[in-house]
Amino acid sequence: MKAAVVERLEGPDGVVVADRPEPRPEGAVLVAVHAAGVSFPDLLLSRGQYQIRRDPPFVLGVEAAGTVVSAPAGSGFRPGQRVVASAWDSWAEMVVAPPDRVFPVPERLSLAQGVALLMNYHTAHFGLVRRGRLRAGETLLVQGAAGGVGSAAVELGKAMGATVIAVVSDRGKADAASRLGADHVVLAGEGWLEEVRRLSGGGVDLAFDPVTADRFDDTVRSLAPEGRLVVIGFAGGSIPRLAMNRVLFRNIDVVGAAWGAFVDRHPDLPARTHAELVRLVESGRLSPLVGAELPLERAADALRLLEGRRAIGKVVLRVREEERA
Ligand SMILES: NC(=O)c1ccc[n+]([C@@H]2O[C@H](COP(=O)([O-])OP(=O)(O)OC[C@H]3O[C@@H](n4cnc5c(N)ncnc54)[C@H](OP(=O)(O)O)[C@@H]3O)[C@@H](O)[C@H]2O)c1
Repeated sequence: MKAAVVERLEGPDGVVVADRPEPRPEGAVLVAVHAAGVSFPDLLLSRGQYQIRRDPPFVLGVEAAGTVVSAPAGSGFRPGQRVVASAWDSWAEMVVAPPDRVFPVPERLSLAQGVALLMNYHTAHFGLVRRGRLRAGETLLVQGAAGGVGSAAVELGKAMGATVIAVVSDRGKADAASRLGADHVVLAGEGWLEEVRRLSGGGVDLAFDPVTADRFDDTVRSLAPEGRLVVIGFAGGSIPRLAMNRVLFRNIDVVGAAWGAFVDRHPDLPARTHAELVRLVESGRLSPLVGAELPLERAADALRLLEGRRAIGKVVLRVREEERA
């Protein structure tokens, strides 16, 4: 089968599409991949900078959507069913995943949108609901609001009844954040903090931050007294430090949300989260934004979109066409 393989830990330049043996199901669900998800962790993996280091050559990818080829008896999955799987080596024509890492894709969504629902929306849900304790009526600030996880947080935040202030770096991303339902969109140039304070009437209740880096200090300053900040990632490229006097004197909470690490200890969480996300999809309140679909052969270019800060919503690799009646 064809797969996108990291041959050298050099980022996109080290990725080639090559023939690899098909994976064996061995008690897992075997999925024929239609859409493989591209996310920031893939970029970090391709450079050897992810928290889990893999030695080349290895197949890239952590998630894919497609149709079930075979499934263990009693797993609840049937051949032909449309699913999304959280799985290593997913930038390939076939992927295997244990049944508790495979979830149905709602009929309303394409498989490309289905793969967007996994890492991005599960992470956004974990960050907003479990770690951030977002409540209806609160004001939510989302950094990197047109990116993968950020776009999911905007849509989900709106679906949960928050007033959403999106922060993005350019006008194209501002349009995307508005289409996702953001109430206000602020460009991340000089003066963004004052604008957020004005729009929120003094400060936000919750900030969701996948960017951090040099915007982090002002994100901390954007919080209202007793506001909460959820750290999601470091897409901006550096890991910021925080002076604890700020946390103390402003009476704020700063927490982390690492979805993968949490799920390793709480394997029942994804099924519960997914059921909730599917309900929101079926009621028309979530419809993941797919900003780019590239063929598997252009796997390296897909990574370059993220590397060059050009990704909007979910970036997807098209592995097979989806034929739907
Ligand atoms: N905690 C978790 O469980 C979890 C799960 C998945 C991903 N993550 C992390 O979340 C972060 C975002 O992932 P993603 O898949 O949403 O990525 P993405 O689609 O590329 O979005 C990242 C956003 O960060 C902003 N950004 C600022 N400086 C950047 C730079 N130098 N290069 C690229 N982007 C930059 C961009 O927004 P603007 O241009 O608008 O500033 C961009 O839209 C990553 O750090 C990833 O590792 C964490």
